[in-house]
Amino acid sequence: MRENNVETTREAKPFQDLAKWATKAPEGETLISTAYKDKVSEDLKFVDNTPGVHKPDPILVADHVTRKFGGMTAVDVNHFEIERHGITALIGPNGAGKTTFFNLMTGFDTPNTGDWRFDGRDMAHMQPEKVARMGMVRTFQLTKVMSRLTVLDNMLLGAPVQPGEGMFRSLIPGLWRKQERENIEKAEALLERFLLIKKKNDFAGSLSGGQRKLLEMARALMRDPKLVMLDEPMAGVNPALKQSLLDHIMSLREEGTTVLFVEHDINMVRHIADWVTVMAEGKIVAEGQPKSVMNDPAVIDAYLGAHANIDLGDDAVLDLKESEEH
Ligand SMILES: Nc1ncnc2c1ncn2[C@@H]1O[C@H](COP(=O)(O)OP(=O)(O)O)[C@@H](O)[C@H]1O
Ligand SMILES: [Mg+2]
Repeated sequence: MRENNVETTREAKPFQDLAKWATKAPEGETLISTAYKDKVSEDLKFVDNTPGVHKPDPILVADHVTRKFGGMTAVDVNHFEIERHGITALIGPNGAGKTTFFNLMTGFDTPNTGDWRFDGRDMAHMQPEKVARMGMVRTFQLTKVMSRLTVLDNMLLGAPVQPGEGMFRSLIPGLWRKQERENIEKAEALLERFLLIKKKNDFAGSLSGGQRKLLEMARALMRDPKLVMLDEPMAGVNPALKQSLLDHIMSLREEGTTVLFVEHDINMVRHIADWVTVMAEGKIVAEGQPKSVMNDPAVIDAYLGAHANIDLGDDAVLDLKESEEH
């Protein structure tokens, strides 16, 4: 039964399947199917809580990745794996190197040393556009939506660039128009799903901060990514939209998309993450099941240590410790 579910989901086109998750669950029932969640929980159940630990089915594997800015080492990741089909949270104090690590993995920045493989393919020295084409798409901590373009045009910018678009395709207008029609259909389906369809002809600049975050996430999905990397998707989002963002992230997992996301709100992390990785001063200092990671002394240190710039309130960590004890 479970196997069947997994198979059908794997075959399906992510964005078309998105629609089916848009419906709210009836009272008292959970919205999310549990096929991939179960698979990932099973897979990770017996993985040690050791920084750099091997995982049963990694989609991204990084080795010896370092990035220095002047004398300061922003990223120093010895080994890191992300489990396929899981939701992995990357947490850590401000300045830990999380965004820099995203930049490196997705070709927006170049490391001093290191290599990494995505889905078994060597990714070093690959341009961002190529990285996206391979199925690894990220969003930005500070959204990169184009204020003076409409919401729909922002979405179309996320559409894959067709190889040979310039010469060959422009000679065959039919082909080109068909592609454009498909892109628009896809963009509209995603906007529908992210509750932005009524705004499709508005300038993106008129959206609220939360809606921009939604737009950026929707745009990333224009690529049907295998791995989507969300840099602080909840920052500046009001509580009502936060819940829907969480639902979106969980539904992505059910379509077979792997998610890596940076988040400061520990309760959110506990709620949706299958695995938590903690960065401090450029290094992976802890990783594991959400429950046990939050009680790891290295994690408490990372947030409360003398040199750490705390952006999780102390209270958040303390509350958490308390609630864990009950
Ligand atoms: N382009 C840059 N030039 C110089 N220093 C940078 C640059 N980008 C990031 N840094 C530094 O690298 C460290 C890690 O930053 P960042 O990756 O943004 O951390 P995080 O996302 O975890 O808050 C910080 O000390 C930051 O000041
Ligand atoms: Mg950051």
